[in-house]
Amino acid sequence: MENFSYYTPTRYEFGRGAEEKCGALTRLCGCSKVLLVYGMGSVVRSGVLDRVKQSLGSCGVEYVDFSGIRPNPTDDRVYEGIEIVRREHIDGLVAVGGGSVIDTAKAIAAGALYDGDFWDFFSGKAVVERALPVGVVLTIPAAGSEGSGNSVITKVDGMHKISLRTDSALRPRFACLDPELTFTLPPYQTAAGIVDMMAHIFERYFSPSSDVQTTDRVAEGVLQAIIEEAPKVIARPDDYQARANIMWCGTLAHNGVCGCGRVEDWASHGLEHELSALYGVTHGAGLAVVNPAWMTYMADRRPAKVAQMARRVFHISLADDREAALAGIAALKDFYRSIGMPVTLSELGIENPDFDLLVARVHENKGNPFGGYYKLGPADTAAIYRLMQ
Ligand code: NZQ
Ligand code: ZN
Repeated sequence: MENFSYYTPTRYEFGRGAEEKCGALTRLCGCSKVLLVYGMGSVVRSGVLDRVKQSLGSCGVEYVDFSGIRPNPTDDRVYEGIEIVRREHIDGLVAVGGGSVIDTAKAIAAGALYDGDFWDFFSGKAVVERALPVGVVLTIPAAGSEGSGNSVITKVDGMHKISLRTDSALRPRFACLDPELTFTLPPYQTAAGIVDMMAHIFERYFSPSSDVQTTDRVAEGVLQAIIEEAPKVIARPDDYQARANIMWCGTLAHNGVCGCGRVEDWASHGLEHELSALYGVTHGAGLAVVNPAWMTYMADRRPAKVAQMARRVFHISLADDREAALAGIAALKDFYRSIGMPVTLSELGIENPDFDLLVARVHENKGNPFGGYYKLGPADTAAIYRLMQ
């Protein structure tokens, strides 16, 4: 096991009506006027935004609406938000939505206190040292941004989708997790969220670190819980208990607990971010295509961990590592298909992928080589993208 430092200052309020506590929680952060960040309207239609506003108002917290954040959020909205925060003397942010909304709020929170261009954090020119407090009311279990220190933003100029990782500076101060808020999710978004949380576990599970039984077993347990609960939420969107389990799995998958004491991989996310940047696909749906292709490539090169996942999560009993790995990957694809997810680029809606461009961009954005479990160079990434056909 590797040495590690794990600090997660997020307070989780879990259960029915959790969003009604957001006013008091915002006050606890010392905020009196917040930027209320949300997306394209689902939170208006479901009524949750009104409840959040009521909670803030009843605690004497003023708010300024900042709406219309789209999936795969872009830097132009971050600049706009920073300007409003400064102009309106705002001292905190409340994000009501999913990863796209939360990530925008985080980037604004860091950028508003920084003298230079906020993109410096994403390009690696500067490190986030301070940020305004961010609180979250989560409406989709998927990206795990409610518990992570990360923000993923696309720069419109060149469509570069970049992930900024911080230890704790960008972890939300609080996250209200009410499973009932997820009842309105369409099946496709529900399923894409399920794939994304599984991918967050895979990125940590596929590690070169040895003697990491504890986190291996935590990861395998959460994966099994997701696989058991997923068909229930697809079949019955208002199954509270299944929604609750999926919601907590999404947080555990990405708040760092599955990554303690191990080197992480993150190659599949790098490969997927190019798909969503270039072709506008839903992040989780893109991962349903990327993860099995990456694992198939590993089955011929470093099969041991894929085989362990196959045996422990999918109960494959084959003795040979490569055969077990391939059987596990087949089971994973069957699972993705069973919840309505694509497993090839054409099923994802990408008919004529530009492989050369994908390979050039992934190395431009992620380095050469990249990946913690197995270092990928251009020949590797080209082969993996082609396995997605
Ligand atoms: O915009 P609205 O109308 O709210 O609709 C949203 C959006 O269309 C809808 N939705 C959300 N909650 C709903 C709902 N519809 C009905 N009922 C509800 N309760 O769902 C759609 C997707 O929302 P989005 O926020 O984009 O989803 P997600 O949470 O999957 O976030 C994806 C983004 O997060 C990034 C991804 O790359 C992508 O940009 N990631 C962020 C990470 C992080 N910060 O740690 C890690 C992840 O790996 C990921 O890369
Ligand atoms: Zn993800």
